[in-house]
Amino acid sequence: MDAHKPLLFVGDNKQGELQQIANDMRTCGWTVQHASDWDQAGLYLDKQPCEVGLAHLNPKHLPAKTELDELVDGKQTEWIALVDTPALGNCNVQQLIHSLFFAYHTIPGDAARLDSVLDHARAMARLSFSECGQNEQADNEYEMVGSTAIMRQLFADIRKIAAVDAPVLITGESGTGKELTARAIHERSKRAQGPFNAVNCAAIPANLVQSELFGHEKGAFTGANQRKAGHFEATAGGTIFLDEIGDLPLDLQVNLLRFLERHCIQRVGSSQEIPVDVRVLAATHVDLETAVAEKRFREDLYHRLNVLTIKTPPLRERQEDIEVLANFFFHKFRCEKSSRLTGISEQALTIMHQYDWPGNVRELINRMRRAMVMCDSRLIRPADLGLERRKSKRVVVTLEQARDKVEKNTIHTALMRNQNNVSRAAQELGISRVTLYRLLEKHHIPHAGKH
Ligand SMILES: Nc1ncnc2c1ncn2[C@@H]1O[C@H](COP(=O)(O)OP(=O)(O)OP(=O)(O)O)[C@@H](O)[C@H]1O
Ligand SMILES: [Mg+2]
Repeated sequence: MDAHKPLLFVGDNKQGELQQIANDMRTCGWTVQHASDWDQAGLYLDKQPCEVGLAHLNPKHLPAKTELDELVDGKQTEWIALVDTPALGNCNVQQLIHSLFFAYHTIPGDAARLDSVLDHARAMARLSFSECGQNEQADNEYEMVGSTAIMRQLFADIRKIAAVDAPVLITGESGTGKELTARAIHERSKRAQGPFNAVNCAAIPANLVQSELFGHEKGAFTGANQRKAGHFEATAGGTIFLDEIGDLPLDLQVNLLRFLERHCIQRVGSSQEIPVDVRVLAATHVDLETAVAEKRFREDLYHRLNVLTIKTPPLRERQEDIEVLANFFFHKFRCEKSSRLTGISEQALTIMHQYDWPGNVRELINRMRRAMVMCDSRLIRPADLGLERRKSKRVVVTLEQARDKVEKNTIHTALMRNQNNVSRAAQELGISRVTLYRLLEKHHIPHAGKH
């Protein structure tokens, strides 16, 4: 038997029956700490965690569920309710017990039975709150989380795409998991044992991209003191992930196209073609179709890359995943350091659902990290996430506004494609020149003049 079994007892200790129960539990070896109400219990738990709580539920003075949520929902303490038998017929009491308590015990009842229920609750508290179970999840650095239909579809697409060896174009807003998707494809592919190399095309200075990607020969340019293999050769047998492919300079796009067609590279300073076995996954958050229309991206390369595509959906389009992800990262970060935090409050979850998450999963991770450092209560609150003053930022778009936007973009692209020639753009759009001029005025699109 444990020498020290702390028990937090909430109730009016002047009431004879309750006093008796507290004494009985002392006799059974429990160190009983008394709190006259839930506020006091909360203060006590803030200072001193306790695995088991025993609380008297008086139907005449029932606390609001939200009031108890903070204490009970946190789950570091398992709670047992003490109730008079008639109170068990009260709907509110039933609901409270059902949603927040581990078990209930009728007053006065049998002390030995209560002792064993408390022992059981304590054992369960230890199991539920031990960190080891949660660590198993957190160990997998690249685990992809999501339970919505749109994410399940994404996982299914990843599995299918992993089974073939063709290039893939991954699109999606910033922070939605494009790189994670690329890793997932690699890890499920036959190249899983080979290297995965993520290269951010936007981060390499334009004059170095070619030698960084394809390598160079000794003396190929000033400073090239020895032969160097580029990222492609270094990734042989594996998968290269070309991030921000939209930023690849036009002249290098030809080299990439050549690689995709012939699986060969040429080092800078050499005309020798070297075969390299690498799978190319590419990602972009810019609209490549527009980039093609604006001649910033080669059309042939676009078509070559656009055979297999995956789009990572923004968080606001998968509302139910917000809570799933928040809990996932909560447990992951809680394992990193000891913390008396026990969960996320209802208010914080509500506000997370209303928020638009422009930075998607990455933003959610950062806000959770911040909250877990800043939080000085047991449950994360809106202010800890830095979301307290925000109202829903979701802009309601009417059908007319949506049509207007598409109309404006389509006209803009047609004009770009036709070097601002209004007649040709009008012809391409299937409208008269007069109509196009009217639309140009409507959308305040500048144009070169009449053609
Ligand atoms: N479904 C998910 N489950 C778990 N973690 C995720 C998920 N999606 C994204 N993440 C995490 O969010 C962060 C951002 O993901 P990632 O870098 O893959 O996004 P990205 O789309 O490449 O962003 P950017 O466009 O800014 O480069 C990473 O830490 C990643 O591990
Ligand atoms: Mg990325």
